[in-house]
This record gives sequence, structure tokens and C-alpha cells, in this order.
Amino acid sequence: MSFWTGRRVLVTGGAGFLGSRVVAQLEAAGAKDIAVPRSKTLNLVDRENCRRAVKNIDLVIHLAAKVGGIGFNRENPGQLFFDNLMMGAQLMEEARLNGVAKFVGIGTVCAYPKFTPVPFHEDDLWNGYPEETNAPYGLAKKMLLVQSQAYRAQYGFNSIFLLPVNLYGPGDNFDPRSSHVIPALIRKVYDAKFGGQDFIEVWGDGSASREFLYVEDAARGIVLAAERYAKDEPVNLGSHMEITIRQLVGLICEAFDFQGEIRWDTSKPNGQPRRSLDVSRAEREFGFRASTDFAAGLKSTVDWWIATQRKAAVREPAVS
Ligand SMILES: NC(=O)c1ccc[n+]([C@@H]2O[C@H](COP(=O)([O-])OP(=O)(O)OC[C@H]3O[C@@H](n4cnc5c(N)ncnc54)[C@H](OP(=O)(O)O)[C@@H]3O)[C@@H](O)[C@H]2O)c1
Repeated sequence: MSFWTGRRVLVTGGAGFLGSRVVAQLEAAGAKDIAVPRSKTLNLVDRENCRRAVKNIDLVIHLAAKVGGIGFNRENPGQLFFDNLMMGAQLMEEARLNGVAKFVGIGTVCAYPKFTPVPFHEDDLWNGYPEETNAPYGLAKKMLLVQSQAYRAQYGFNSIFLLPVNLYGPGDNFDPRSSHVIPALIRKVYDAKFGGQDFIEVWGDGSASREFLYVEDAARGIVLAAERYAKDEPVNLGSHMEITIRQLVGLICEAFDFQGEIRWDTSKPNGQPRRSLDVSRAEREFGFRASTDFAAGLKSTVDWWIATQRKAAVREPAVS
């Protein structure tokens, strides 16, 4: 008998990049009854749909969100704020009203203040306003933490809140209109290399730093927390590495043996200056430690993108 035997689980966003890994790991851990609502048929911005989604559910993992990279955040601040706020607030309220036993809320590193001391500790979450481009997204998701703590205090509702750092891995979103930095860079370098272009343009000046967590590790952390953690303090999910965007660009160019020029577009924002998490609470509270080496994770992401492009090329009809 595992923790998951007989539990009816709702994974919102369960068909997404992270969600599909969470669902696969839940199945591997013994969960048999997993509901994955899709936005087309059950738009969770609508409260009635939230009510339907949580009916007869024991445990909710709330991953559904509007997400994107820095460009997407700049263009859609209103939608990112409203959709994420409404989905989270209404889903947790309906979960409480409908007798759900546990709610796992997923936040984001974007909730941290712009100038948080590195490594980011959970106690610093409220010491300032987030970096401007991702504040509407980060703050909307941070309200899940406030709601979670308020519901535990008033109703004894068992809700927890996790803060994953930037994720990456095979199956990530490579759409240039909404992708995060790793898939965006892989695609730029791939297109330049195989399109015969001798330069790429990169946003910012390359000085910002980021921490990256492999998507399979993130999914494992979420499943462990769902099983073992039941307190109101937020918990970082990270890998405790840090790399500058300049170094990251170097690694991706190396992966493709791309020797072209890097043009830094300093008219575009860098985003948050530094990101690296203190990950000790996750290890102490529920035994989570990331295990994927960054070079290996990056290689599997690059390989996945190349394989995807090759398959797409084979499928394309020949032009006569
Ligand atoms: N990716 C990262 O770097 C990162 C970092 C920190 C935290 N996170 C968090 O991790 C979670 C998953 O992110 P992801 O990168 O896996 O994103 P993703 O691939 O875009 O998945 C998000 C999912 O949310 C669902 N969704 C969006 N709007 C919805 C709506 N109105 N109603 C119902 N479902 C809706 C979508 O379902 P459909 O496919 O059915 O449209 C989609 O599959 C999010 O909560 C995000 O904030 C991600």
C-alpha cells in the first residue's frame, strides 16, 4: 500500500510541461485515480468549473497557470495576473468547501523580491516588490500562499505552498512568443546554426544569473511534498546551482558548435538580477534533493529539440 493507493487526485495543468511529469510519477507511485482537466473543456478561471473539478477529489495538485518568459510577461501582465489569481483563489475555496483533504499550491521563484539576498531564503519572501516584468504573475501566484496560510489558520485546511525555481527539460515550451530562457536560446542557436546565420541576438547584457531545476526533479519534489509535508511555511524547490545568462549562452553555443557572434540587446530587460535558492527546507522537511546534473539535463534538452526538429522535417511533405 503506498500513500497514493485509493486516493482520488486532481492535477490541474496535468497535461503541461511539469504536470505531465507529475502525473507520470504519481502513476509510478501507485496513484490510479488521477483527473487531469484541460483548459478547453474546464477553464478554471470560471468558479463553477473549479467546483466541478474538485468534486469527489481527495488531493489537489494545482499546477494550472498561464506562464511564459520575460517577453510574454511584458506583453500580458493583465491576463497573467487575473487568470492566475482567479484560478488559485477559486480552486482552493472550492476544494475547501467540497471536503478535499489536501491542497498542494505551486508558486514560483518570480514571487521573490527583485533584490533578495542570495541564496533566496523563504523568510525573505515579503521583503520587497518582485522584478517588475514578472510581478503580476509572481504576486498572483503568491496569493496562494496567503490563502493557504489563512485557510489553515481559520478552517484547519491542509494546504501547502511550494516555490519552484526556473524549470527546464525535454518537452519544454519552445514557442518563441512565450518560451523561457533555455528553450528560447536553444531554438535561436539551432535556427542560426542550421539556417546559415552567423549571429544570434540575446536579450539583456548577459549578467543576470539563474538557477535551473530539471523538470523530473521538480516533479519528484512536488510528489514528495504532497506525501510528506503538511505545514504552513512555504518551501523552495531548487537545485542550488547558479549560472549567468552569458555562461548559459556559451554552453548552448558549445552544444551546437556554433561559432557565430552573440549580439547582446541591452535595450531589452535582464529580468531579475540574480536567482539562486536556499534549498535546505525541502531537504529537511520532506527529503527532497535535486539529482540531475545541469550539463546532463541541458544535453538531454538539446537532444530532445534536435530529435523533435528532425521528426518534423521528415513529416513535412516534399515541395515539388
Ligand atoms: N516552467 C517553469 O519554469 C516554472 C517555474 C516555476 C513555477 N512553475 C509553475 O509550474 C506550473 C506548471 O508550469 P509549466 O511550465 O508546466 O506550464 P505549462 O506547460 O504551460 O502548463 C500549464 C498548464 O496549465 C493549464 N491551464 C492554463 N490555463 C488554464 C485554465 N484557464 N484552465 C485550466 N487549465 C489551464 C494548461 O492546460 P491545457 O494544456 O489544457 O491548456 C497547461 O497545460 C505553473 O503553476 C507554473 O507557475 C513553472
